[in-house]
Amino acid sequence: MNTYTNPMLREDALKDKIIIVTGGGSGLGKAMSKYFLELGAKVAISSRNLEKLNNTAQELENETGGEVLPISCDIPHYDEVEAMKNAVIERFGKIDILVNNAAGNFISPTERLSPNAFDVIIDIVLKGTKNCTLAVGKHWINQKERGTVLNIVTTYSWTGSGYVVPSACAKAGVLAMTRSLAVEWAKYGIRFNAIAPGPFPTKGAWDRLLPGNLKEQFDMTKKIPLGRVGVHQELANLAAYLVSDFSAFINGEVVTIDGGEWLQGAGEFNMLEQIPTEMWDALEMMIKAKK
Ligand code: HXC
Repeated sequence: MNTYTNPMLREDALKDKIIIVTGGGSGLGKAMSKYFLELGAKVAISSRNLEKLNNTAQELENETGGEVLPISCDIPHYDEVEAMKNAVIERFGKIDILVNNAAGNFISPTERLSPNAFDVIIDIVLKGTKNCTLAVGKHWINQKERGTVLNIVTTYSWTGSGYVVPSACAKAGVLAMTRSLAVEWAKYGIRFNAIAPGPFPTKGAWDRLLPGNLKEQFDMTKKIPLGRVGVHQELANLAAYLVSDFSAFINGEVVTIDGGEWLQGAGEFNMLEQIPTEMWDALEMMIKAKK
């Protein structure tokens, strides 16, 4: 039986931790929030859509018995981020963990993008992450409190990728921020790590990245050596570990969780996977004959 769909950490692993999850109203943010709650945390979820947040908060509270604070916040605006931070402190008294999960993305040939379209993605992903990190980080430093930041990036943060160029630029910036501040703010007891998820189907991302019949045309499982997409609980397990005190010595790391997807694309001879086993005998003879 597969155990990767099961919760991993022991009960109370995040007991009384106060966690902000941006983009926590749906998708991976919601999945992570649910597991954090199950582990004893109190979670503030933010996004632009308060109605969706309220529904998610209610649903998560009913399912987990935990406490959820929904906060409307458009993260490219620093004043809104400050207000969110203040609202969390007012309600819970402190912040322990920030998960920069909110993102914006769509596929497009880059030459079709208006300058504003490029900016909108940079503003959500890079500027939004910067705003949340700066607001919460300054608070921790001023209060002499320790903190943990988890940034959600992608594997194309380091490879780059066509057709999602604003997202690739922004996520590369977030990865650089993760590694830079992991060192600079370690003296304040603030840890930074990142997760680079491969395909974990969510409605928000999938409808934008594989719209219409592209889902049928491009079978994502064929791109993944392990032959399947990710399960939300797997990501939640990793996220919970990386924000918990169990990972206290992990700092500045980016953990890829993609079934080997990006390396399959990167390895120069990985295309030889397509060669049938019976052909290898003939190929071996041909190669040896060259000696
Ligand atoms: C070209 C487009 C476009 C498209 C929008 N624009 N969609 N241009 N092709 N498909 C242009 C618009 O014309 C406009 O430019 C500008 O982008 C802003 O569009 P708005 O709709 O006004 O912006 P807004 O309402 O702020 O919405 C932001 C959004 C939207 C990013 C466009 O998709 C959104 O809200 N997304 C949030 C959720 C999300 O994207 N989740 C997926 C994250 S997945 P002009 O010049 O006309 O003003 C991810 C990692 C994936 O990040 C990794 C997978 C492995």
